[in-house]
Amino acid sequence: MIISPSVYSMHYENFKEEIDILNKYVEWIHFDVMDGHFVPNLTFGPMILQAFRRSSDRFMDVHLMVDDPEYFAMKFGQAGADGITFHYEVFNNIPNCENLIDKIHSLYMKAGISIKPGTPVEAIFPLLNKVDICLLMSVEPGFGGQAFMEESLERARKIAEYKKEHGLDFILEIDGGVNDLNAHRILEAGVEALVAGSFVFEGDMVRNIEKLRRCE
Ligand code: DX5
Ligand code: ZN
Repeated sequence: MIISPSVYSMHYENFKEEIDILNKYVEWIHFDVMDGHFVPNLTFGPMILQAFRRSSDRFMDVHLMVDDPEYFAMKFGQAGADGITFHYEVFNNIPNCENLIDKIHSLYMKAGISIKPGTPVEAIFPLLNKVDICLLMSVEPGFGGQAFMEESLERARKIAEYKKEHGLDFILEIDGGVNDLNAHRILEAGVEALVAGSFVFEGDMVRNIEKLRRCE
């Protein structure tokens, strides 16, 4: 399993201590990029990721919740991102998504497609043979600390089944409300990568990460 803590919930006053833990205990680091338009909230730009890059060799997993993912993909790529995931709902159109996936690949990064809770999972099936990551939202994007939407389990199962049936090799990742009480069921549904923000960063980070690890 891959654990991808969301630095949305990091305590920046303890940057050094927390990044050292991430470097030691997790595979990926998740960056929630929000532009105040695609979602009402606003987070950070590429300079922040660049600072992380100087302190970490982890896979930098960028989740773009922005209206202009092409521009942000380029900027975060220059800053040192390893993977760029954007929302299907920005375009609601397969050819436009395909173009951006190609663009991300041409920048030598992994490409991911993300889907909001209200969009039928079948909408992104035609993209699954092109992407490296499928990021299933288990909360409405925009804020950390929300409750996991149980119906996401069935959605994860559908995507995992499609993956198996077609012999595809993208990584199925889930994002929102993940904790030690639901991680087991999430992994059982076929999810391979867990994004976790508040659960990882609230309290003892090492213990929290270990608790997730034990859910496998
Ligand atoms: C929501 C973000 C999530 C979120 C996860 O828009 O994409 O990555 O920060 O945080 P928790 O784990 O607190 O739900
Ligand atoms: Zn995210």
